[in-house]
Amino acid sequence: MDINVVDNYSELSEKAAAIVVNEVNCRPDTVLGLATGSTPEGMYAQLVKKYQERKVDFSDLITFNLDEYSGLSTEHPQSYHYYMHKHFFDHINIKSHNINIPHSEDRDIAHACGEYDRKIIEAGGINLQILGIGVNGHIGFNEPAEHLNTGTHLVDLSDETIAANSRFFNSRDDVPYQAITMGVGSIMHAEKILVMACGKNKARAIQLMCCGKVTTNLPASLLQLHRCVTLLLDREAASLLE
Ligand code: PGA
Repeated sequence: MDINVVDNYSELSEKAAAIVVNEVNCRPDTVLGLATGSTPEGMYAQLVKKYQERKVDFSDLITFNLDEYSGLSTEHPQSYHYYMHKHFFDHINIKSHNINIPHSEDRDIAHACGEYDRKIIEAGGINLQILGIGVNGHIGFNEPAEHLNTGTHLVDLSDETIAANSRFFNSRDDVPYQAITMGVGSIMHAEKILVMACGKNKARAIQLMCCGKVTTNLPASLLQLHRCVTLLLDREAASLLE
């Protein structure tokens, strides 16, 4: 793993955006795997800025988002559909048919999940996957468990994730308890992976991810097996690394 520690959140966001811009400029029809949550917000703001400054063109970009809550409409302000349009897609020239986000409203979830995986394969796989990390070491919504799914699937969110994400909702009871997530197989098949983490509450997960044993009980630890992982950490998230 290529571990990079930066001084603060704005540096983290700028560096992450620079990696994405470089990728898209080298290969305009890049397939990007995208993450939501508070960590990548600054990166999206930087990417929008670079687009407005004409330093990057997203017209051939293809994206696949990692996950979406189950039970929220795509218009719900906490849905990841809403998040992605608000922070990124509405401000750039990506073509709407190149945007892919798991749909939790489909009646036949299993079929929709299979279709999502098929589309990733049809696009040629993911070139660069952006990841955050949960306080419990989840990636996407692949929660710590004895067994993990390789493909896109419906998952029960863990208590830690519901507690962590309750900050975005009026109360803990309003947080959906299920989500659709890309599986660890699709993530591990990405050509390159960029993991971003900031804040003291991520330090333990980062330590275990980098230096702990590889275990499905800390899904991010599987990334130790990937050939091309870049980590962007602020000082707090990196504070338990040697
Ligand atoms: P966060 O979420 O960026 O909001 O901390 C990361 C995650 O849960 O994967």
